[in-house]
Amino acid sequence: MVAGRLRVRATRAAAMLAAALMVTAGCARENSGGGSSAKDGGVVHVVCGATEDWCAATTARFTKTTGIKADFVRLSSGEALARIKAGKGNVEFDVWYGGPADGYAAAAKDGVLDTYVSPGSTIIPDRYKDKSGLWTGVYVGALGFCSNTTLLKKDGLEVPDSWADLLDPKLSKDIGMAHPSTSGTAYTALWTQVVLGGSEDKGMDYLRKLHPNILQYTKSGSAPAQMTARGEVAVGIIFSHDCVATMEQGFPDLKVSFPAEGTGYEIGGVALVKGAKNSVSGKKFVDWSLTTEAQEVGPTVKSYQFPTNPNAKVSDKVVNLSDIKLVEYDAVKAGSAKSTLTKRFDAEVAQAPKS
Ligand code: F6P
Repeated sequence: MVAGRLRVRATRAAAMLAAALMVTAGCARENSGGGSSAKDGGVVHVVCGATEDWCAATTARFTKTTGIKADFVRLSSGEALARIKAGKGNVEFDVWYGGPADGYAAAAKDGVLDTYVSPGSTIIPDRYKDKSGLWTGVYVGALGFCSNTTLLKKDGLEVPDSWADLLDPKLSKDIGMAHPSTSGTAYTALWTQVVLGGSEDKGMDYLRKLHPNILQYTKSGSAPAQMTARGEVAVGIIFSHDCVATMEQGFPDLKVSFPAEGTGYEIGGVALVKGAKNSVSGKKFVDWSLTTEAQEVGPTVKSYQFPTNPNAKVSDKVVNLSDIKLVEYDAVKAGSAKSTLTKRFDAEVAQAPKS
């Protein structure tokens, strides 16, 4: 009898303890947009695809404004995607910020992003975001050519203004471009050829023809701007804002041009990583990244992408997108094809750089 009473008391105590633990856990946990829940340590770990300077300025400003700590690792788009996928099960980052949206669409397809429709995303035009909140656009950039005019003049060549111009044998080993497996910039160039050619095969044909003129496939998309500035190559295929930034670093001989056939563009994204350990702070980072304050940070560190928030000030150094011919960019289509096309590029054109 006594033993029975004790057992009941013990069971009741255990039930009360379990209930108390559930309440505590409920306080510490937060249901994230996609249904997963995570603790929050008041910090945001960002995998950042913009320039190192922009990543640093953005995370610092976020901390100053919100009081939430933030750190970042700068990785090119393909590398960020691979690292996020590798972290499935032991999630390393809370937020992915910067880099073309096709990488985000590919990550969403692989189930490594959470849906989060930030209240601030209503201001962002529909064409710059995923409706379900898998990613939201924070900037837009146009692909272009970055030319070293002194070198071109020496070789008796004009500044290129078409994709066809880049196939000129006089530009043999004189063009710099990143590798599409690692770089979002280079994948945008590859996808542009697919859209212009009307098929994946035609796109690959163009890149095979271009290959003899490529000196080196770099890991990061903006690296060919430096190669062009230093005179290692005459032309770089890069996002035009990276050429403008390099000009400002003391290379006024550089010139931006755009291909007459049409050029590709990027929507730089932001997204919450699925299973983020700091999802509450991660969401606050996403919210903040859509504000005018966040979107006006770029030009302070020579990053001249076009902001997606229509109320953000636009620097006069930002390219006027309506002045250039843009090809259609469907991030979902480009993202779905990313794995196949980068594998084809590895096999049919050139292997990805090792380090
Ligand atoms: O340098 C900034 C930038 O051009 C961004 O606009 C773009 O999203 C990113 O770099 C792409 O980097 P990568 O080609 O290295 O993936």
